[in-house]
Amino acid sequence: MNDKVYLYPVWIRMWHWTNACLCLLLIITGISMQYSDPSYPMMRFDWAVSIHDIAGILLAVSYLGFVIGNLFTTNGKHYRFRKGIIKNLFIQARYYAFGIFKNEKPPFPISKESKFNPLQKFSYIAVMHLIVPVVIISGIFLFFPVLLNLEIFGNKALHTTDIIHVIMGFFVSLFLLVHLYFCTIGCTPVSNFKSMFTGYHERH
Ligand code: HEM
Repeated sequence: MNDKVYLYPVWIRMWHWTNACLCLLLIITGISMQYSDPSYPMMRFDWAVSIHDIAGILLAVSYLGFVIGNLFTTNGKHYRFRKGIIKNLFIQARYYAFGIFKNEKPPFPISKESKFNPLQKFSYIAVMHLIVPVVIISGIFLFFPVLLNLEIFGNKALHTTDIIHVIMGFFVSLFLLVHLYFCTIGCTPVSNFKSMFTGYHERH
């Protein structure tokens, strides 16, 4: 019989789905602008720019909500590395590569005290504390170009910022694909998705 543990409070669920929708909009409009060919646009260029700008501003606000929420609730403790993280990453990777196919028990069972396994923790910290902040900061400079009117190694700083923004956007897209795949590894392929709606994580 599977039991259920309450892991995702309402504010995390609201933040998460807002963030997910905004990221999807940003990725679609970002790709559309990147590969825009005036003869075959994915969507009208001016629409893509406006939607991307608005979604970007909303994402920055919702990110602030995530940071404040983690500072003032116990959720923040899940975003700190513990001693032995490197070794634990290997143990979890070995489990995903071999153990899971031999029906072994997960090496880091999910609990209220520790809701992420080491690989989840690593990827969530990397995306939320490194990649998304860099996307937001570079996005702010692209939105207010006068803030960055200087040259780096003979190149316009704005050009370098644009490249950083695109690369980080690519990493968010990559994270999303891997994230979706790993979310299907639960009691059933859909149980983790359900848990982000109900708040209750189902475990064996
Ligand atoms: C369609 C898009 C998405 C879906 C369906 C989705 C699904 C899920 C699910 C099911 C969980 C809970 C289960 C688990 O942790 O394995 C989760 C957690 C999480 N997701 Fe997503 N996700 C999406 C997009 C994103 C994006 C774009 C980001 C970040 C840029 C993100 C960041 C996170 C984080 C940080 C958590 C842990 C939240 C916490 O409990 O503190 N997700 N996601």
